[in-house]
Amino acid sequence: MTQVGTSNERSRPSAGDLFLEVRDELQQVEIRLQAELRSRHEQVDRVVRHGYRLGGKRLRPALLLLASRACGELTDAHRTLAVVVEMIHTATLVHDDVLDEADLRRHVDTVNARWGNETSVLLGDFLFSHAFYLASTIGTADACMLIGKSTNRVCEGEMRQTLAEGDLSLGEDDYFAIIDAKTAELCACCSELGAMFAGADDECTSALASYGRNLGMAFQIADDLLDLAGCEEATGKSLGRDLAKQKLTLPLIHARDTLVDGPRNQLLELIKEGRDHDALLAQLSELGSLEYARQVANEYATKAIRNLNVVRDSPTKATLQKLAKFVVSRSN
Ligand code: IPE
Ligand code: IPE
Ligand code: MG
Ligand code: MG
Repeated sequence: MTQVGTSNERSRPSAGDLFLEVRDELQQVEIRLQAELRSRHEQVDRVVRHGYRLGGKRLRPALLLLASRACGELTDAHRTLAVVVEMIHTATLVHDDVLDEADLRRHVDTVNARWGNETSVLLGDFLFSHAFYLASTIGTADACMLIGKSTNRVCEGEMRQTLAEGDLSLGEDDYFAIIDAKTAELCACCSELGAMFAGADDECTSALASYGRNLGMAFQIADDLLDLAGCEEATGKSLGRDLAKQKLTLPLIHARDTLVDGPRNQLLELIKEGRDHDALLAQLSELGSLEYARQVANEYATKAIRNLNVVRDSPTKATLQKLAKFVVSRSN
């Protein structure tokens, strides 16, 4: 049976290996997050600091910082915006864990598991508003405008997905539109901001935005594969939530559209019942549906790499190329 993200795959390059060029700046992001995410009320402070302890791969700040290096100078505006995009991302995760009723995130309890949904909603709001406050300090409204638009699309994507829960007829196009909004949009925003604030011309800025979008698509398809067939120990988050919430992802859509009549109805029953995960996984494997999704993710990664053609050659460009492949092969 095809398994992704098993713990013995940990010897693969980690995100950290790819982020070496911006290691110092990423350390500054950690320090800044730690300093910003505080409250003078002790109880609130504990919750808010959990937002910081929810330490992830820091892919989005790294994307923004690497994009700036690939296109020009890394500036103070980039340093602040790197913190901003991680805060926005964390806010979406805190809210997403409420929607998905998830217990584990980044190897620790989710905010909802520890403090409940009400506190999670408020922490998410705190992170969103603090992120926009910080973005407003860089002396131009351009970043706020772009981040505001993108965050709206992320919320739209999450809403569309929530409204589509239980819809076993969801088509591939709807699936792509949902992941484009909920995930690829913020990745596009990060690489676009990186290029824009490095003074890149329009062609280069739009190439970097497309790169981030295609990378984000590949990233979410890989994430959906991990949700079905990954390993919780490696990802550090609750898996199987898409099925539990009857959210159709690419492998399931592929399997449904490959089958007809009785076998198709049996598959839909298996999805609805949600009891026999192993049987479902075996069928997805047999039908080549996991492989199909991996292939589509690879195609997006290839498109992302192609988007970089207009960018001048540099070690950072090579890192961005590797990053596009990494997001598909990652196990966490
Ligand atoms: C998880 O993002 C949410 C998705 C868009 C799938 P990451 O996998 O980047 O989460 P962290 O930030 O590393 O925890
Ligand atoms: C959520 O997608 C993406 C967001 C915009 C937050 P998922 O629900 O697949 O993310 P995980 O798997 O919980 O990290
Ligand atoms: Mg989720
Ligand atoms: Mg997921």
